[in-house]
Amino acid sequence: MPEIVRSVKGTRDLLPEEIRLWQKVEEEARAAFRAYNFMEIRTPVLEHTSLFARSVGADTDIVSKEMFTFEDRDGESLTLRPEATASVVRAYIEHRLFNEGGIHKLFYLGPMFRRERPQKGRYRQFYQIGAEVLGSDEPETDVDALEMLHALLVMRLRLRDSRLLVNSVGCPRCRPSYVSALRHALENVKDRLCADCQRRSQTNPLRVLDCKVEADQPIIATLPTILDYLCVECREHFDAVKRGLDERAIEYQVTPRLVRGLDYYVRTTFEITSGALGAQNAVAGGGRYDGLAELLGGPQAPGFGFAIGEDRLVLAYGAVEDRAGAEDLIYIAWLEESSLRPAAELARELRQENLRVELLFHPMKFKKSLAAASKMTATFSVIIGPNEASTGRFAVKNMSTGEQEPVERARIADYLRAKLKELNH
Ligand code: HAM
Repeated sequence: MPEIVRSVKGTRDLLPEEIRLWQKVEEEARAAFRAYNFMEIRTPVLEHTSLFARSVGADTDIVSKEMFTFEDRDGESLTLRPEATASVVRAYIEHRLFNEGGIHKLFYLGPMFRRERPQKGRYRQFYQIGAEVLGSDEPETDVDALEMLHALLVMRLRLRDSRLLVNSVGCPRCRPSYVSALRHALENVKDRLCADCQRRSQTNPLRVLDCKVEADQPIIATLPTILDYLCVECREHFDAVKRGLDERAIEYQVTPRLVRGLDYYVRTTFEITSGALGAQNAVAGGGRYDGLAELLGGPQAPGFGFAIGEDRLVLAYGAVEDRAGAEDLIYIAWLEESSLRPAAELARELRQENLRVELLFHPMKFKKSLAAASKMTATFSVIIGPNEASTGRFAVKNMSTGEQEPVERARIADYLRAKLKELNH
């Protein structure tokens, strides 16, 4: 027997059983984006490696160790996108969307690839639902996008135990003085930090703040915080963001050590965590990236955006949602060869009426046929035997109570719709 070919480590199949939750989450996301007038953009999964090296930063974990990069047949270096902000900004520049003027509000859904150590909530192919606002540096833009995210996660999807952590990472004018203060402070303590942090304190000291090693945390807590080093403009911007969140009654926690793992951020950064998840508890993250468009060869175009980890959101959502909201199924049972045609006609009509209908073609005895309906968790079965075909009344069986009622052929669609409405209220 030949060996079975399995899926690649860190990737997974989403089977029909669980896809309903994904669709529900995506439906709610699209509704939220629509309400805030965001338009969809789809960019390729494959990009030139330099796009990410220049935007996310060569020194970050994502670029230095997590990208799926390969040399194409003509020697070009290509990468499976680890995130999509860089791609959206590339598309914005490439298609000169900035020529249209004004603000561009874009959203995307799709797979991202990072070669991380797989565990629950962390995959090598994972999915993001993201949004980017290009062309505005107003703090209200940050607040509005955060309001939309809050409306989606908390109001629509009832994400449990969520926290919004916000910070400002300053700008190229004020950050260098903070980094040198940090470097200085690290000189004295770095011998007591983990090996990674010892290296980071040389190469990219901000990354030390991101360290997850338990023993390092008390030492990291003593390091200077960026909020004491913000320039006047960055401080005012951050104050305005916080004020806006207060005004809209969105709760948050200022977290001065939140630096995030991507280099393009300036000013506002944030993360949303959920207590419904385990170790990988960051459901969404994002921030402001004024300067990224210029870094990629475009015009000055400030931006703000976020990405939700859809895998994690579905994990958290699945826990609350369980089976509620599953779409009802109508099963049509036919008992004799002669009932198959009326059964197929009824199925077609009910489907045209937008009901979800299953009709199996394999001949089965009554009991076996209804057992199949139960297995599919049908809500109702319509039974068509020789009697029913001649009287013009079909038996409709409620599969959870077992109650059965004869219903006139012409009234079946209305009957089912009314019953389903009753059941779902
Ligand atoms: P990020 O924080 O790297 O930001 O990713 C956003 C979210 O994607 C995370 O909070 C997490 O939920 C999810 N995620 C990341 N890696 C994995 C993984 N290996 N498995 C499962 N889920 C994962 C960005 O990607 C930025 N582009 C966000 C942004 C948009 N900033 C501005 N605009």
